[in-house]
Amino acid sequence: MKIGVPKEIKPAEKRVAITPSGIRVLTEHNHQVLIEKGAGLGAGFTDEVYLMAGAELVDTPEQVWEESEMVLKVKEPIGPEFKWMKPGQIIFTYLHLAADRELTDRLLKRRVIGIGYETVQLRDGTLPLLAPMSEVAGALSVQMGAYCLEARNGGMGILLSGVPGVRPARITIIGGGVAGMAAAIVASGIGARVSILDIHHARLGYIRDVMSGRVVTINSNPANIEEECLNSDLVICTVLIPGAKAPKLISRSLVKRMKLGSAIVDISIDQGGCAETSRPTTLDDPIYTEEGVVHYCVTNMPGAVPRTSTIALTNATFAYVLALADKGWKKAMAENAALRLGLNVYDGKIMCKAVADTFGLECFEPDL
Ligand SMILES: NC(=O)c1ccc[n+]([C@@H]2O[C@H](COP(=O)([O-])OP(=O)(O)OC[C@H]3O[C@@H](n4cnc5c(N)ncnc54)[C@H](O)[C@@H]3O)[C@@H](O)[C@H]2O)c1
Repeated sequence: MKIGVPKEIKPAEKRVAITPSGIRVLTEHNHQVLIEKGAGLGAGFTDEVYLMAGAELVDTPEQVWEESEMVLKVKEPIGPEFKWMKPGQIIFTYLHLAADRELTDRLLKRRVIGIGYETVQLRDGTLPLLAPMSEVAGALSVQMGAYCLEARNGGMGILLSGVPGVRPARITIIGGGVAGMAAAIVASGIGARVSILDIHHARLGYIRDVMSGRVVTINSNPANIEEECLNSDLVICTVLIPGAKAPKLISRSLVKRMKLGSAIVDISIDQGGCAETSRPTTLDDPIYTEEGVVHYCVTNMPGAVPRTSTIALTNATFAYVLALADKGWKKAMAENAALRLGLNVYDGKIMCKAVADTFGLECFEPDL
């Protein structure tokens, strides 16, 4: 198959959809990979490394789109990319169509085969192509919390780890899923005193077992959230209710009573955020102070570490990329129910129930 990888054009997006090692395997399987010049530079992969892996360098994005049967991307198509999409072309990327009617209409109109990373779903309900970015955001949240707590950024001027004779910071993590667990591992590793709250008892039991005493697990309810927030230096929010907006678990009045110069890192901001005082920020201008508490609410945290994020993302996507290339999309989906759930649009029709329900449109089944 002829596979194309354009450079991402969304502002500040430096990730790329494939690493040189992925290209090596694809070319060993007799696929042809076209990559736009400079596509990997933001993630630290030079054109030379891609060439050595067997890719063909292409000067313009138009050429990549024009010549490829399958286009691999990180973010959804935007701007000029709409006019380059071709009927019957596979586009494998994050789509998040339920949040974007215009994009949905454009994909339908161009009759592409749109496969969204975010809706690929395993039998146990987990989302294998979303999880790596939650892991990155969770681990990064501790680093960003440390930054917020520095005095020059409005924080109370404490070091998360403490030093001999000075107590470490107290960190509360609300939500013990993928991001929450990643945050707990980093926070406890650095020596902070960590509590983690979740509504699912079994999840708390799992966390207690694997973290063997390094974090305190607490049932999530309003009273416990209040107590933990009031006593914490850093609160990290990682709650997710699939398909819904994040619940507002931290009221403005609670933020007002938190320690002066404490911090909230609201990872759930991409679903609206868990604190009433949270509002989306950008990688270029990530923090603000409200009610005396420093807030970090960046909606695309993995973009801060594009190399790690690229490798983590492509580790997860590659098996699906290879299956699509080797077998064609119909056979690959017929053999893999998780990948089938990734199909969002095909031949001008919606194939994903959640997207169809969101827009009140009919959902179709592909003939696999
Ligand atoms: N800002 C970013 O750049 C970024 C990057 C990646 C992920 N995210 C977001 O991070 C959030 C977490 O993602 P995830 O993959 O860890 O989700 P997940 O489903 O693995 O975990 C969410 C957890 O929240 C728990 N939860 C639900 N309601 C709760 C409540 N009231 N109190 C406490 N816990 C509750 C669930 O039981 C679950 O364990 C999502 O909103 C995701 O979109 C943001």
